[in-house]
Amino acid sequence: MLTDEQREQLIQIAQHTRQWAYAPYSNYQVGAALLTTSGRIYEGVNIENAAYPTGMCAERVAIFKAVSEGERQFEAIAVVTRNGGTPCGACRQVVAEFGQDTIILIANDQGQIIQETRIKELLPSAFGPNDLNESPIKG
Ligand code: THU
Repeated sequence: MLTDEQREQLIQIAQHTRQWAYAPYSNYQVGAALLTTSGRIYEGVNIENAAYPTGMCAERVAIFKAVSEGERQFEAIAVVTRNGGTPCGACRQVVAEFGQDTIILIANDQGQIIQETRIKELLPSAFGPNDLNESPIKG
């Protein structure tokens, strides 16, 4: 579980980093703050593109930054938007890759927590690394 201080700090950092979102097309700025089990915090923002599908969500930016620096174990990710929007399916899948228990903290731009849950609740029965280790067809 997160302490009150960790919860507050993660939301504050996600809210602060949200200013760097590059979202000229949707005008929907997203900020994320990812806490690793080693205690580091990686920030991410959504980065859109004139070629729309090539944009990237804030959550995945934070996770890819962390993984590219050797981190693979995550405690929690805070996501801040103007209205407390929930992480998209692709981001849920990427969070689930690294563990079922990662805490998802969803907050709005007033710093209010809209939802606190775990990835296994947001993406039940996720396809994961184990599904690749064993053939579903036995015999
Ligand atoms: N977005 C995120 O950054 N994270 C999500 O989980 C939901 C959507 C971004 C993508 C796009 O830049 C904008 O929000 C509107 O969809």
